[in-house]
Amino acid sequence: MLDINKIRQDFPILKRQVNGKPLVYFDNAATSQTPQQVIDVIVDYYSNYNANIHRGVHALSQEATDKYEEARLTIQHHFNAEKAHEIIFTSGTTHSINLVANGFATLLQKDDELIVSALEHHSNIVPWQMLCEKTGAILKVIPMTLEGELDMDAYSKLLSNKTKLVFVNHISNALGTINPIKSIIDQAHKVGAAVLIDGAQACPHIKPDVQALDADFYVTSAHKICGPTGIGMLYGKEAWLNKMQPYQGGGEMIDQVTFEKTTYAGLPHKFEAGTPNICGGIAFGAALDYMNAIGFDAIADYEHELLDYGTKQLEAIDGLKIYGTSKNKTSVISFNLEGIHPYDVGTLLDKMGIAVRTGHHCAQPIMAFYKIPGTVRASFAFYNTKSEIDALVEGVKKAKMMLS
Ligand code: ALA
Repeated sequence: MLDINKIRQDFPILKRQVNGKPLVYFDNAATSQTPQQVIDVIVDYYSNYNANIHRGVHALSQEATDKYEEARLTIQHHFNAEKAHEIIFTSGTTHSINLVANGFATLLQKDDELIVSALEHHSNIVPWQMLCEKTGAILKVIPMTLEGELDMDAYSKLLSNKTKLVFVNHISNALGTINPIKSIIDQAHKVGAAVLIDGAQACPHIKPDVQALDADFYVTSAHKICGPTGIGMLYGKEAWLNKMQPYQGGGEMIDQVTFEKTTYAGLPHKFEAGTPNICGGIAFGAALDYMNAIGFDAIADYEHELLDYGTKQLEAIDGLKIYGTSKNKTSVISFNLEGIHPYDVGTLLDKMGIAVRTGHHCAQPIMAFYKIPGTVRASFAFYNTKSEIDALVEGVKKAKMMLS
């Protein structure tokens, strides 16, 4: 059992008002809020040991380097990566995916096949389309069902010995569906394809074990998991990371530089050119420590309670339709009111202090499948409450009255 009142004390932002009303923050799938424990780590870094890492002999540089590398170990243990150098710091999920897509440019041939799913965020579609343009590889799509699940029979049929890479999200950002990634990975491996899992929406709810999953790549962003924006990670199996060309050239990613030839550093530095987001990396580690101290099992149980409660109440509203009705779902409710544009609902909710996301959620193919312009998306975190859901339900009813 979580002590929600105590947990809420950790988040200063939850005390503020918006438009004269107490903030009800239901845009957690876009970004989570930051607990004081993580804010303190950020303030401590800039107040006490701000310095560049891996380069200075001076004390501050060494302290910053130690903390940054400790954070890498925290991330390694959290995701159960076999080796610390399989964790690459990036600016976030989008950067991680672009890094892998770029790394595969020299590993693909014309007519090789890549498989994406219909449930993806644009960041797990566009970098691969760019890769296909560069290499002549072909992109195939796993279709989705009306419930917002992947059609796994169709997936099995798409796989062949031409398949080189499969990339799917662990959880859909727009619908909340939890995808059967273990089966996706196992089937892909049978034909020799590598698999990248976009974990951006999963990591706030689930603690992934990359070795148990046997994922080749797993990517995520810290800001969805109570950390800061601008920092994330790429987990890659060492063998794949060694095969891939570096994404960016610059300082710290080299072994030797001459004008005739440059050789690259080993992992993880080969993929970490330039001064990184040092404070962000350290705060990412602190955010994982914070979440683990609460416990992911307790978080998932409580969020399921919120999901069930919110779903029952919202679907009782006449004319309200929920998109994404899989039994395997996390705490995301995407919905529309019949005949009313989602943007109008979101704007009125904001006037009541309730933050939701409206629009296509960077997942236009899903909206095209349902033939809608977008949805209103309420996404719950472990610091939300049932009384906040009551406020949302009242707000939606009011919006319906005003806009009908
Ligand atoms: N990917 C984030 C979302 O779903 C921004 O809102």
